[in-house]
Amino acid sequence: MSVDLVEATSEFLDHVERVCVENQTERFAVDNAGELFARFYAPKRLAKRLGEPGWSRVWVARAEGRIVAHASLYDQGEPDGVVFGHISVERPWRRSGVADALQAERLAFCDAHGLTLVGPIAPGNDASAKFCGRWGFQVGWVDRVGNTWVFHSPQSA
Ligand SMILES: CC(C)(COP(=O)(O)OP(=O)(O)OC[C@H]1O[C@@H](n2cnc3c(N)ncnc32)[C@H](O)[C@@H]1OP(=O)(O)O)[C@@H](O)C(=O)NCCC(=O)NCCS
Repeated sequence: MSVDLVEATSEFLDHVERVCVENQTERFAVDNAGELFARFYAPKRLAKRLGEPGWSRVWVARAEGRIVAHASLYDQGEPDGVVFGHISVERPWRRSGVADALQAERLAFCDAHGLTLVGPIAPGNDASAKFCGRWGFQVGWVDRVGNTWVFHSPQSA
């Protein structure tokens, strides 16, 4: 298993579409997660540079010649270096340290650039809660549909 930083490719976007459908109920307490993901990962968004409105960064894990997991960051125009992110691992590859490897890359990037990563934990997503707790995320707020939003401040802050 190797973990690579990639630019937008059709291979990657196919993967995202697939995981959107598979993970959306597990991941978010909203109906249109697939649409939201497609918007966040639009190629022109991925191509934007850090510091410009609407930029994204994506790390993927590849195994057996294809993408089996991804972690992302994306700018939503929030002030003070606050960015949002997704992470997901295909089921057969879970519990083998893939998310840990991607998270290490992603948080190193956040630390290096002074970014605070924010993300939701859907109600009952115990794996996500455990995973985020292990990485030192703090609880921010609970939204009206029950997602718990957690954040990770840059270590240099
Ligand atoms: C959450 C998710 C990304 C974890 O991916 P993963 O590759 O299986 O995670 P790892 O193997 O790197 O596990 C890292 C740690 O997270 C925690 N963890 C991961 N899955 C867990 C589970 N099902 N139950 C409890 N703890 C879990 C554990 O502390 C684990 O360490 P351990 O295996 O030494 O106990 C994966 O389950 C997933 O894709 N879920 C659907 C999408 C999602 O919920 N994303 C949001 C995550 S914030």
